[in-house]
Amino acid sequence: MTDTRTVAVTLGERSYDILIGSQLLEQAGEEISRRFPGSKIAIVTDTNLADLHLPTLEQSLARAGVTSTSIIVAAGEVSKSFVSLQTVVDQLLTAKLERGDFCIALGGGVIGDLTGFAAAITRRGMGFIQMPTSLLAQVDSSVGGKTGINSHHGKNLVGAFYQPSLVLADIDTLDTLSQREFCAGYAEMVKYGLINQPDFFEWLEGNWKQVFAGGAARVQAIARACRSKAQVVARDEREAGERALLNLGHTFGHALEAATGYDNTRLVHGEGVAIGMVLAYEFSHRLGLCNDNSATRLVAHLQAVGLPTSLAQIPGGVGDIEGLMHHIAQDKKVNRGTLTFILVHGLGQALIARDIAAGDVRSFLIDKLGQIKS
Ligand SMILES: NC(=O)c1ccc[n+]([C@@H]2O[C@H](COP(=O)([O-])OP(=O)(O)OC[C@H]3O[C@@H](n4cnc5c(N)ncnc54)[C@H](O)[C@@H]3O)[C@@H](O)[C@H]2O)c1
Ligand SMILES: [Zn+2]
Repeated sequence: MTDTRTVAVTLGERSYDILIGSQLLEQAGEEISRRFPGSKIAIVTDTNLADLHLPTLEQSLARAGVTSTSIIVAAGEVSKSFVSLQTVVDQLLTAKLERGDFCIALGGGVIGDLTGFAAAITRRGMGFIQMPTSLLAQVDSSVGGKTGINSHHGKNLVGAFYQPSLVLADIDTLDTLSQREFCAGYAEMVKYGLINQPDFFEWLEGNWKQVFAGGAARVQAIARACRSKAQVVARDEREAGERALLNLGHTFGHALEAATGYDNTRLVHGEGVAIGMVLAYEFSHRLGLCNDNSATRLVAHLQAVGLPTSLAQIPGGVGDIEGLMHHIAQDKKVNRGTLTFILVHGLGQALIARDIAAGDVRSFLIDKLGQIKS
């Protein structure tokens, strides 16, 4: 069995631990009863996880004498909705959970975001534990306290900053994740290397096969990613500044997701981020910010693991330049008419670039689309 690693998220009285390791689902009951004695638990999960991993967690809690109830919602983004939020809150109240009791989010980013928000608003704030089961959730969404649901106005527009009290990332749960979803999460892991840890990027170039295989290298990589995010969050919990760096690749990526109608068969979030990060490097090069071979190295690495790196790889295309520019303008990183992009000077050297002219973005994307005249 691989050793468990602990990453501390330092946020004053809202500080918490992230445990990363094997068989944490089996140990969860013991861990929770030791840390939060006497608390009742509601596990919120989706229909996929209910079959795969919920029984192990339920049995673990029961063995440790912890009372639990399970709330199961539909799998997928559809559950980040007011309807699902109401279902979860209602069932928490029906189960008579009190403010000092805990909701466990057992699932990917969807379940983490929904459950965290439900915990934040039920009884004005209940206990919350993240048990992320997708790679994306283990390296990104379970850390940092952003929770919420979607509105018909857009994604993640309704929510709260609400930190968990504990994160248990069991790497064994990733063995049931599809290769495609694993790759998508891996793109977010690469992102931390690109932002400010060139040595981590280099390590991933040499060790990605072991990370995909599981075991100690996987634990090490997830811990490194979590530590990286935790440090940024500790310095800028509410994204007043530096935390925006975590959006590297996301302005382009979100536009691509929107342009494909959020159709997961065509593009999943991490794939949009992978292509978006490549675009950010190429755009930085075009603006004269990044003049080395970073983009080539990034493309080579993403291709090696099986991630897409260009617009041409998106099935069904991404529409025309007007559509893409519209989606970019809709992205929340737009401030009073000018565009804010996370750009780069090189590998591990990201920066927040405000005042990027829309015309520069447009001409860059026209070239990328390859067929549209302005
Ligand atoms: N809060 C944040 O800081 C933050 C950051 C990034 C992304 N997000 C959000 O996260 C969501 C995406 O997360 P995601 O990619 O994990 O999506 P997801 O939760 O929909 O999971 C993807 C799919 O994988 C399945 N799955 C999850 N774990 C599994 C496992 N171990 N075995 C088999 N199948 C499994 C799920 O049932 C689902 O069908 C988006 O809604 C996004 O907005 C939030
Ligand atoms: Zn992302």
